[in-house]
Amino acid sequence: MKPINVGLLGLGTVGGGTLTVLRRNAGEITRRAGREIKVTMAAVRDLEKARKLAGPELEITTDPMAVVNNTDIDIVVELIGGTSLAKDLVLKAIANGKHVVTANKALLAMHGNEIFQAAQAKGVMVAFEAAVAGGIPIIKALREGLTANRIEWIAGIINGTTNFILTEMRDKGLAFDAVLQQAQELGYAEADPTFDIEGVDAAHKLTIMAAIGFGIPMQFDKAYTEGISKLTKEDIAYAEQLGYRIKLLGITKRTEQGIELRVHPTLIPAKRLIANVEGVMNAVLVKGDAVGATMYYGRGAGAEPTASSVVADLVDVTRMLTSDPENRVPHLAFQPDALSDVPV
Ligand code: NAP
Ligand code: HSE
Repeated sequence: MKPINVGLLGLGTVGGGTLTVLRRNAGEITRRAGREIKVTMAAVRDLEKARKLAGPELEITTDPMAVVNNTDIDIVVELIGGTSLAKDLVLKAIANGKHVVTANKALLAMHGNEIFQAAQAKGVMVAFEAAVAGGIPIIKALREGLTANRIEWIAGIINGTTNFILTEMRDKGLAFDAVLQQAQELGYAEADPTFDIEGVDAAHKLTIMAAIGFGIPMQFDKAYTEGISKLTKEDIAYAEQLGYRIKLLGITKRTEQGIELRVHPTLIPAKRLIANVEGVMNAVLVKGDAVGATMYYGRGAGAEPTASSVVADLVDVTRMLTSDPENRVPHLAFQPDALSDVPV
């Protein structure tokens, strides 16, 4: 069977990780997907930087539209970030009939409603496992594993950079700025790290989880957002003395007024499982009416953990393209249930 051709927009932390994982585990991935997944083209800003990732069958360009307009490409993977160029590229890819995989939570939280509508009209898939909680398959859990449930609430540590900062400040007494710099060097932080430290990135992810969990449109503008930039080493040490840990939590739940969305630092008793989620690790708790409370844990940021989710989406889309079109269940489509649109 002919390979699935993939165009990567971006070869930075996540794009580079995706290429590495696809190359290292090519045999297993081909077997699981049912056919070969081949990256044939990639776009970057700086060709010199990308040279080390080049391969014999990989064309690298500085023109991302050339990837989106390439008729040989079946799936476009958007890993450029931001909401302006990325939106144009994703909408153009959809208009060209290509399936899209993205790790861009800002794009989906801000423009997801328009993007999913366009994808549905064109009959293509937009997959986004990597957009929430890095390597944790939380979108799959919400959409598939918990599909029998009426979701009551979702809560968790969903930003690796801030959890890394809070852990290092507590354990090593390091200053905020020094740890933030480490997080940037490790590839955890957003291009604009204020998105991490002011809670915006967590609010983007919470918006996406709420949309999937409650079947509502993306409503990022309804989220209360407070970050960790005002916390000091002393706050963290006092909390510890009192038997608590400070964690940046994202919480969304059903209330009588509608769906509540909030991100803020929270004092958690040190004995609780979630208080002991350290460093770049994320944890998401989901309560469903049938299953009760469930918890998902893993690396929330970084090259290969995030690539693990990107590649899972590539395999999912490939399997779908390989299945009989008459009997295809388009489970990657996100379609809000209008009846559940109950904004706070
Ligand atoms: P990154 O390391 O900064 O990589 C961005 C890539 O996009 C680079 O290769 C860059 O080219 C390329 N690029 C940017 N603007 C471009 C343009 N105008 N034309 C062509 N190429 C362009 O970012 P990242 O950390 O991989 O993040 C990518 C996306 O994944 C973001 O949406 C982010 O929120 C999301 N994400 C990141 C993580 C993580 O742990 N880092 C986890 C989950 C999701 P150059 O290499 O030449 O600069
Ligand atoms: N900047 C994000 C974080 C990347 O630290 O969690 C993963 O989405």
